[in-house]
Order: sequence, then structure tokens, then C-alpha cells
Amino acid sequence: MGRLSSLASTLLLASAASAIPTSFERRNDTQPSDMIYDSADLPATQELVWAPCWDNYECANLAVPWDYEDEAVGLTSVFFIKASSGGDQSSAQDILFNPGGPGGSGVNAILTGFDTQIMENFGGNYNIISFDPRGVNNSALVEPLTCHNMSDPDNYGQMPSPGHSIPLRELYAHSVAIGNFCTKVNAETHARYHGTLAVVQDMMHFHKLNTALKGGDPETEPIWYYGVSYGTVIGQTLAAYYPDRVGRVILDANVYGVQHYEGYAPSAVDDTDQAFKFFFEYCFEAGPEKCAFAGNSTSPQEIETRYLNVLQQLEDNPIPISSGSLPSIYTRRDVMSSAFSAAYGPMSGFPQIAELAAALESGEVSKIAGESVPTGPYPENANYTEEISSSEVLVLVTCVDANGRFPLTNFEEYEKAVQTMTRESVYGGEQIAKANAASCIGLDIAPPTSQVFPGFENTKTAVPVLFIGTTGDPITPLSSAFRMSALFEGSVVLTHDTPGHGYMGIPSNCTTGYVQAYLESGDMPPDGTICEPDVSAAPFMQDQDPAKMVRRFAKHW
Ligand SMILES: *[C@@H]1O[C@H](CO)[C@@H](O)[C@H](O)[C@H]1NC(C)=O
Ligand SMILES: *[C@@H]1O[C@H](CO)[C@@H](O)[C@H](O)[C@H]1NC(C)=O
Ligand SMILES: *[C@@H]1O[C@H](CO)[C@@H](O)[C@H](O)[C@H]1NC(C)=O
Ligand SMILES: *[C@@H]1O[C@H](CO)[C@@H](O)[C@H](O)[C@H]1NC(C)=O
Ligand SMILES: *[C@@H]1O[C@H](CO)[C@@H](O)[C@H](O)[C@H]1NC(C)=O
Ligand SMILES: *[C@@H]1O[C@H](CO)[C@@H](O)[C@H](O)[C@H]1NC(C)=O
Repeated sequence: MGRLSSLASTLLLASAASAIPTSFERRNDTQPSDMIYDSADLPATQELVWAPCWDNYECANLAVPWDYEDEAVGLTSVFFIKASSGGDQSSAQDILFNPGGPGGSGVNAILTGFDTQIMENFGGNYNIISFDPRGVNNSALVEPLTCHNMSDPDNYGQMPSPGHSIPLRELYAHSVAIGNFCTKVNAETHARYHGTLAVVQDMMHFHKLNTALKGGDPETEPIWYYGVSYGTVIGQTLAAYYPDRVGRVILDANVYGVQHYEGYAPSAVDDTDQAFKFFFEYCFEAGPEKCAFAGNSTSPQEIETRYLNVLQQLEDNPIPISSGSLPSIYTRRDVMSSAFSAAYGPMSGFPQIAELAAALESGEVSKIAGESVPTGPYPENANYTEEISSSEVLVLVTCVDANGRFPLTNFEEYEKAVQTMTRESVYGGEQIAKANAASCIGLDIAPPTSQVFPGFENTKTAVPVLFIGTTGDPITPLSSAFRMSALFEGSVVLTHDTPGHGYMGIPSNCTTGYVQAYLESGDMPPDGTICEPDVSAAPFMQDQDPAKMVRRFAKHW
């Protein structure tokens, strides 16, 4: 199969076999008895039919209307995966889960072990059901969600990427070009049906079918949901749109939903530097035996100064690399971007930042050349891959959500946005601004009216929403949790005083206890509760067993 990704090949298979019925008839020709290892082998059905999959799970490929208020538009499919609690199934509570994105694959999250992590943390008798939102991975089999012109063989690879070092005016022009191109390519596609409200409608549709299958009342059964990162936008939208149906909703690593629906989220970097403060403090506390970058420093501030020196050294002297298959350079930006990503998951990420910084400080360039050299932009002629696809899904979903609300309209406003975010955060502002601020410029894809989310108002949900935020999240700051909580009556923000993206990264019995109590009885933690981690400086105190390192949730922005 060479470089053709499995996604690209399943796309071909799916369209050849036309697995999706073209109308709303019920089909009865599926025999869901064989173990499924490939979503393309499970035909989409309008009934909810669970089939055994990937040895330990059940899967369902649900045919859903592109537009619930206009069935003439036809059907697409949404792929669900269920991890059973192992407890008594007649009393097991289903919890829907989304790991983030937009573009993150819930199916992949389950297959890589998030179900176990969530079940261990939640305790109780809960089934975890995740899904690929429409347009994502296994739910893109009917039609890919992309900015590529899939019928043009010359436009089958990576969108040209200018890198972020070119002049800002060129970067801006580039965004306009890509946005206009993407809009044109999608003039006749179903891209407009991929907004977050459509995803929420899919969840409710699934929930009703699933409830009926279990003998419950589809019109009243409460829905339970756990969302992380962009998954919190899904949850905020769910709670705002179907407030009476909220059973439990836990939103962890919150996006500021109001800004998400504007397509520009400057507050995303509010706590980025706080994440790095944790790194310097934890490293100092752990000392040179456990933190590779602690050195002789006598304070966290001194470690930070040395770290900034390392960055300045690289700024002054980018490292030429000639040892790989292609010559390249290693720059300050490379370190910044590796460290930024690493800060999402401090348990594995902080030791990596420490080793990278230590290697650079001591001039052990061979170590870097061997391991950390970035692969750089995709080769121009590379084929359409899952990775490329998921970055386009992020932009398309965000900009469909923000259609008509995106606030930046010209270069001067964009330049100001980059300056603002650069000032706001030393360790992430500029790169996040350059990567994201201009995404929706030039993109004009409007959702149908049935899928336009009108925005957040003060909402009273049947059961209050539990918001959770860490104090050092590089991309979804605590401020977002508080701002969103203010819009949901009775909700509470539980503060988890650690770095990282998502509270499960660094364990706290305190947080886990409150989460379990909420799940069991709906009881909320007292307003203003702050939970400390079980082990201080945990990332440097663990056995460095990679199998135990906590996985990262999918990135938002
Ligand atoms: C179900 O399948 C049988 C034979 O496979 C067919 O005769 C019947 O018409 C089908 N029923 C529906 C509702 O499609
Ligand atoms: C898509 O889902 C498949 C399982 O069907 C998984 O193996 C793959 O890693 C997923 N892709 C992404 C980009 O998450
Ligand atoms: C996509 O590519 C095909 C084949 O080259 C071309 O005919 C079509 O005009 C292109 N579509 C757009 C929107 O550019
Ligand atoms: C620690 O300090 C000593 C004496 O000043 C110096 O020789 C040594 O290189 C320092 N080690 C590190 C890792 O900075
Ligand atoms: C990309 O895919 C096309 C169509 O399958 C194939 O002809 C081409 O060789 C592939 N290109 C690369 C670089 O793999
Ligand atoms: C957290 O809970 C576990 C399991 O109950 C226990 O072993 C551990 O001692 C607790 N840690 C703290 C800091 O309370």
C-alpha cells in the first residue's frame, strides 16, 4: 500500500461498495457476527446495531442525515465504539466521551487505552462510548472533509506550507489563498454540515436510539458525557442546546466556547507560561538527580534564566544538521514547538523538555541530531494522509462554527492579534498566533440554519455541569473554565493544581474523589475547590517506565 494511508484506502473502499443506503429505508442485510477490525467492513445502518470489534469492544456505524431538518440532503455515517465496564450490564451507565480536536478520533482514543484510564479514574459501573465526529477518520467514509480538490491528481498532497518564519504579510496572504481555495473546493461538497451543533445532534440521535435499544424512554433519558479539550466545546454546546437532558456532563480542559464560535481564541495562551513555570519549579524541586536540567541552579528562576539562554543561543546560532537523509537546521522555534507540545502531558513531556534543554546547554548536538530533529514540512508530493486530513478538519470545523462571526478582516487586525498573543505568552503566544489566528481568513462556508449554534446564554441544566481545569494548561487555560461556568447555573469549577492538558495527566485523589461523587450522586464540589496532586513534582518523581507514562489528549489549536 506504500504511502497511501489506511484512511485514504478505506475511503476508496467505502465509495466503491457504497455502504451507505441512499434513502431512509431500514436495511436488514448486515450480519454483525464477525469481529470487525476495519470500519469499512461495518456497513452503516439507520438502526443502531452493535457489532463486536477490535477484540474487546463493540462498534456501530450509524447512518445519519447530513441535515436533520432536510432529509433530502442524504446520509452520512458516524462511527461509535463502546468499551463495556465489565460490570453488570443491566445497571451500567453509558457515558459518551470525546477526546478533542476538532479532528481528534474518539475511536483511536479508545483503541489506544483511554477507556481504561477513564474507567479507572471514574470508578463505578460505567461504559465508555466514544465516536469519530462526522468528517473525522472513521466517520469520513462517505465523503472526506478536506480543503483538497480530491478529483485533481495534482492537488492530492500537502497544502503548501510557508513555515512560520516568513514575513507576517506573506503569512497572511498565504492564509487568504488557502481559505479562498478551500471555500471554492467545498462549494459543492457537504463541508457545511460539519459544525459542532451537527455533532451534538448526532450525539442526541445516537442517545435516543441507544436508549430505545436498552428499553428506556428515548425522549426523557438523561445523557451523560465526558469531554476534553475541543470535546468541551461539544459538551458546552450539548448542555446549552439540550439543557433538560443533562444527566452528568464533565468538561475537562475547557476551551472558551464563546471564542471558539468566533474562530479566534486569543485567551487560549493565558496559562501557557504558567505551564512552564511549573516545569521550572518541579525541576528545581526534583533536583539534579531527577531533573536533567536542574544543574546547580539555586532557584526555579535561575533554571528559567538558563532555559531562556539556551533559546537565545539557538536564535543566535541555529544548528546545521547534516546527519539525516536530508540536510536541515535546528532552531529556537523547533525547541519552542517541541516544548509546547510536551507541556500538554507533563508526566512524559517534562522529562523530555529537561533532557532536550540539558543537551542543548552542554552542546551535545549529536543527541539532538539523532532524536529530536523535526521531520519538517511534508514533502510536496506526499499523498493525502490522516495527519493532513485531521489538521484540515480542525480548520474546517472551527470556521464553519465561526462563519459570519470571525472578527479579523484585514492584515492590520491580524498583525495586532499576533502582537497581542505574543505579548501574552513567551512560550507559546507567537507560534499559536501564527498557526491559528488567520485560519478562518478567506474561508466562507456557512452551515445550514438548522446547524447554526446561536451562541451561549445563561442556561439552567437539569443537573449542573462540572467544569475542571488545571492551573498550568498550555492551550486551554483555567480562565476558560470560569468564563464558561458563569454561563451555566449551578455549575462549579474544580481546580486541579497541576500543569498539563486534562486533569488525568497528573493524579490527585482529591479531584478523583469529587469526580466520582458527582458521577454517583450529582453532588458538586464546594465553589472554589482547589485540589493538589498526590505527589508534588510528579513528572520527575515517577519510575521512568514509558508504559506508565500518561498519554496525551488530542490537541485543540
Ligand atoms: C429483509 O431481508 C429479506 C431477505 O434477506 C428480504 O426478503 C426482506 O424484504 C428484507 N426486509 C426489509 C424490510 O428490507
Ligand atoms: C482512525 O481510526 C483507526 C481505527 O479505525 C485508527 O487505527 C487510526 O489511528 C485512526 N486515525 C487517527 C488519525 O486517529
Ligand atoms: C478540481 O479538479 C478538477 C480536475 O482537475 C477540476 O475540473 C475542477 O475544476 C477542480 N475544482 C475546483 C473547485 O477547483
Ligand atoms: C555546577 O557548578 C560547578 C562549579 O561552579 C561547575 O563546574 C559545573 O559545571 C556546574 N554544573 C552544571 C551542570 O551547571
Ligand atoms: C499518491 O497516490 C497516487 C494515487 O494512488 C499514486 O499514483 C502516487 O504514486 C502517490 N504518490 C506518492 C508520492 O506516494
Ligand atoms: C490516593 O489513593 C490511593 C488509592 O486509594 C492510595 O493508595 C494513596 O495513598 C492516596 N494518596 C494520597 C496522597 O492520598
